[in-house]
Amino acid sequence: MKLGFTTLTALAALLQSATAAISLDTQDVDSIKKASGELAYGLMSFYKNNQSSTPIADVGTLPDPLYWWEAGAVWGAMVDYTAYTEDTSYVATVQQALLAQVGPHSNFMPPAYFFSLGNDDQAFWVLAAISALEYDFPFPAGNASTTWLSLAEAGFNTMVPRWNMSSCNGGLSWQIFPDNVNGMSYKNSISNGGMFQVAARLAHYTGNQTYLDWCDKIWDWMEGVNLISANYDVWDGTSYDNNCSDVNHQPWSYNPSMMLYGSAVLYNHTSSSVWQDRTTGLLKACANTFFSPFPNATDIAFERVCETKDTCNNDQYSFKAYLSRWLAKSAVVAPFIRDSVFQLLNSSATAGVQTCTGGESGELCGHKWYVGGFDGSSGVGQQLAVLETVQALLLLQDDVQPVTPVKGTTAQSGGKGRGKAEGGSVQTSAAVQAPAAPSTTPAASGLVTVLKTKTVLTTAES
Ligand SMILES: *[C@@H]1O[C@H](CO)[C@@H](O)[C@H](O)[C@H]1NC(C)=O
Ligand SMILES: *[C@@H]1O[C@H](CO)[C@@H](O)[C@H](O)[C@H]1NC(C)=O
Ligand SMILES: *[C@@H]1O[C@H](CO)[C@@H](O)[C@H](O)[C@H]1NC(C)=O
Ligand SMILES: *[C@@H]1O[C@H](CO)[C@@H](O)[C@H](O)[C@H]1NC(C)=O
Ligand SMILES: *[C@@H]1O[C@H](CO)[C@@H](O)[C@H](O)[C@H]1NC(C)=O
Ligand SMILES: *[C@@H]1O[C@H](CO)[C@@H](O)[C@H](O)[C@H]1NC(C)=O
Ligand SMILES: *[C@@H]1O[C@H](CO)[C@@H](O)[C@H](O)[C@H]1NC(C)=O
Ligand SMILES: *[C@@H]1O[C@H](CO)[C@@H](O)[C@H](O)[C@H]1NC(C)=O
Repeated sequence: MKLGFTTLTALAALLQSATAAISLDTQDVDSIKKASGELAYGLMSFYKNNQSSTPIADVGTLPDPLYWWEAGAVWGAMVDYTAYTEDTSYVATVQQALLAQVGPHSNFMPPAYFFSLGNDDQAFWVLAAISALEYDFPFPAGNASTTWLSLAEAGFNTMVPRWNMSSCNGGLSWQIFPDNVNGMSYKNSISNGGMFQVAARLAHYTGNQTYLDWCDKIWDWMEGVNLISANYDVWDGTSYDNNCSDVNHQPWSYNPSMMLYGSAVLYNHTSSSVWQDRTTGLLKACANTFFSPFPNATDIAFERVCETKDTCNNDQYSFKAYLSRWLAKSAVVAPFIRDSVFQLLNSSATAGVQTCTGGESGELCGHKWYVGGFDGSSGVGQQLAVLETVQALLLLQDDVQPVTPVKGTTAQSGGKGRGKAEGGSVQTSAAVQAPAAPSTTPAASGLVTVLKTKTVLTTAES
């Protein structure tokens, strides 16, 4: 066979696309932005439900079999992407998607998804709206009654009456609708933690005491039924069938990281040593449980329950995204953990992008970051996890002021939470009033020590 020049060039291109991972320098802002852009492009390539032929109820959702909640998680990530990178390419797509799923009462309760819609699912969409609020993500013009803030507060206020005192001394059930029998009696951490983080961020944004009171109440309840352990493990759930006396001890990475960001926001907002200690404890728990699966993979994130056993489902493929998202956001509002978080996310992002050689584009990411390449598993969750870990690095640079969550100001009341006019560049600097320094000295160096001395998961354990 005679190889012509064109064939050779094509062959070279093919070989390159099969081997060239996305390049990333974790301490170079331009490099992180470029890599994030490539990863975001890969993520958005999975989004199809914004065509003129898309049924109205499906706009803003992901293709089956992905559940409704995961789209809310994706839009939250894309709001962050826009704020961190200042790339406004996806603003219109994200606006349309988020607003398409607010439902008839503008609270992220669309009837078409009631069959799968639990408290945790709704929380992921509400959290996306709160990120839009905090980062001044533009709200489309032409609707005077609805704002990111009104959507988030309405979502929160649907959860309040679901707090159920008839067993377990309180708590939210996983499910909202009794038809969803499997999870009605299950009171789980991601649902209660979701409400907790929503309340913490709304407390910080609005200064409204109601939200702070709910934070204390939810934390105390989770601790009271042992969903949060003395070591700040956050277990998966418990059941009202036995008055929450048994706990399902599975450790999933989104549970403690959900609680971590709420706690870090509350630490920032209140300057309380209580929330500072919880922030420290939860970070240690995350570091000890969800990083360094093997001695050859120090500080690389992994989903402990399922990843090394190849049993993760579509939901679980995405969990490392939220682990990274909330670790990094926590480091912004609780800077005393920043060095520890950078150490973890630097290694994880470096390993994560090395898996991104899959798919036809040669740039889709894999699931297992510890194997040193693409592991054959790609999809929305896998792509989201690498994107969120890489873009999180933009919050952790030494020489760059990170994007911070804005607080509501008197100037914003009336149009409060409305965001800038459509299509404008996103304003990311904030009128944040930093509270007084906390009364206790943070134990940042202690955390680094913990990271170095933690146990690694052995094959026998996994
Ligand atoms: C759908 O979203 C993609 C990704 O942002 C965008 O490129 C495309 O233009 C959108 N299509 C429509 C019809 O809005
Ligand atoms: C504003 O948007 C919400 C949510 O999409 C919708 O329910 C409401 O009818 C809209 N109001 C107006 C005045 O357009
Ligand atoms: C509250 O919990 C009890 C079980 O303790 C359950 O039977 C009841 O349906 C729950 N109420 C609501 C409104 O979900
Ligand atoms: C049910 O559990 C709650 C929370 O642990 C506890 O306060 C309450 O006393 C328990 N009720 C019964 C009847 O055991
Ligand atoms: C505080 O927030 C709660 C829950 O959204 C709301 O019902 C209440 O009106 C708010 N209070 C003030 C003073 O804005
Ligand atoms: C609170 O968060 C801001 C960023 O939003 C940060 O600059 C400030 O240092 C934090 N305050 C404390 C006490 O850590
Ligand atoms: C980031 O992680 C990579 C890979 O583990 C490592 O080579 C590099 O030294 C780390 N950078 C910093 C600043 O810690
Ligand atoms: C690290 O060790 C694990 C377990 O032995 C293995 O599966 C993985 O491929 C190794 N990673 C690299 C980069 O060699």
